[in-house]
Amino acid sequence: MAKIFIGNDHGGYALKTALVTRLREQGYEVVDMGSHSEEIVRYPYYAAKVVNAVLEDPQNRGILLCSTGIGMSIIANKYKGIRAALCYSSYQAKMTAAHNRSNILCLGGRCIGLFEALDMVENWLTTPYEGGRHDISLGLIEEAENINFSAEQWTPDEPAPNQTASTPSTT
Ligand code: RB5
Repeated sequence: MAKIFIGNDHGGYALKTALVTRLREQGYEVVDMGSHSEEIVRYPYYAAKVVNAVLEDPQNRGILLCSTGIGMSIIANKYKGIRAALCYSSYQAKMTAAHNRSNILCLGGRCIGLFEALDMVENWLTTPYEGGRHDISLGLIEEAENINFSAEQWTPDEPAPNQTASTPSTT
């Protein structure tokens, strides 16, 4: 069974917490990489943690949650080898597993409910990649990555909250 690394910002915290509990009850191995409260944080730091864990082993999967899922999907897809899919339906979750072999699922914590999220995650985790003609597209994505991305990955250290001078006081 795939190991699931999950990360979030303040906008994804509530849904992440509920999702982790339910996924663990269902027997999934889930590693919660934070954030661990609704305190305002910058989502790229948490995306980076999950991305680097997912890239360590092709069997690993990641789930990233922010308010909309959009910011998380933007930063995750800046990494070579990451195919992050922002989904708003179980059909999309199923199709991105089957056709894009996505290794990260992005969800909008303030846009969907727990039961929708659980159904999406279940569809995403249990649908096998179809291969075949989709390998051609994935090969082209890899070709683009090899030209567009340098070898070094961004692995930031998150500053302590009182050092984030650029952190705004609102979400
Ligand atoms: C944070 O307020 C919000 O911008 C973030 O959660 C995310 O939705 C960004 O795309």
